[in-house]
Amino acid sequence: MNPTIELLHRHRSIRRYTDQVVPDEALREAVAAGQAASTSSAIQSYCVIHVRDMAKRRRLVELTGNQEKVAACGAFLAVCGDTRRHRLAAARDGKTYDARFEAFLLAVIDASLFAQNMVVALESMGYGICYIGGLRNRPFEVDELLDLPEGVHPIFGLCVGVPAEAPAARPRLPVDAVLFDDAYPDDPAVLAELERYDTAYERYLVERGAEPRRWSSIMADKFTSPVRADQAAYHRAKGARLD
Ligand SMILES: Cc1cc2nc3c(=O)[nH]c(=O)nc-3n(C[C@H](O)[C@H](O)[C@H](O)COP(=O)(O)O)c2cc1C
Repeated sequence: MNPTIELLHRHRSIRRYTDQVVPDEALREAVAAGQAASTSSAIQSYCVIHVRDMAKRRRLVELTGNQEKVAACGAFLAVCGDTRRHRLAAARDGKTYDARFEAFLLAVIDASLFAQNMVVALESMGYGICYIGGLRNRPFEVDELLDLPEGVHPIFGLCVGVPAEAPAARPRLPVDAVLFDDAYPDDPAVLAELERYDTAYERYLVERGAEPRRWSSIMADKFTSPVRADQAAYHRAKGARLD
C-alpha cells in the first residue's frame, strides 16, 4: 500500500476531541485541498461555513439531535451546496436562471467531493473528523441560524479536531460486493455477499461491546419509514427545482 492508500484506510469517524482549536491556516489549507477535487464543468457549487460563534454551535448541538461533539470539537463546518453565485451571475447578465433537479444533484455531488477531499487533507494533518448528517434534521432552523440565502443548501456538518479516542475500524462490505464486471449481479449473488459481511459486522459489534446484529438486518430496519421527510420541501423553499 502506498502512503495515500494507507491514510485512507486509517480513517475512522472521531467523536471525542481534545479541547485544542483547529488553526485557521490548517482549515484554509484543507479547504484549498477540497477545492482541488473534480467539479462538474468547474461549477464549484459548494461553500463551507466555519461556525465560530459558540452560541450558534450550542444551538447546532440541539438542531443536530443533541450531538455534543458539534460544540466540543475543535472546529465545526457546515458544508453547503451553493448555487447562489450562479444565480447572481445570471441576474447580473440579464439571464433567466432556470436550472432543474440536475443542478441540485450537481451541487450535492460537488459539495460531497469537495468535503471528502478536505477530510482527507485534515486527516493527513493528524486531525479527526465526523460528518454530521444531523445538520439536515431541522433544516429550516439551521437555515435561519446561518442566514442562508436562496440557492444555498446545507448538506452535512463536519466536526474537526484533535482526536481524544482511537476507535476500531468499522468494517466495510467486501470489494466483491461493490465491484462488478460488466453488469449488475443477480439478487441471490448480492445476498450471498451480504452473508459474509454480516458475520464480520456482527464480530465488530461484539468486540465493541455492542448488541450483536447483522448489518443486513440493521439496513432492513433502517429504511422501513421515511426520515427527514421535510428535505424536499426545504430545498424547494430555497429555490431548488426537484423536477
Ligand atoms: C453524510 C454522513 C453523515 C453522517 N452523520 C453522522 C452524524 O450525524 N453523527 C455521527 O456521529 N456520525 C455521522 N456519520 C458518520 C458515520 O456514522 C460513519 O462514517 C460510518 O458509521 C462509518 O464509520 P467510520 O467513518 O468510522 O468508518 C455520518 C457520515 C456521513 C458520510
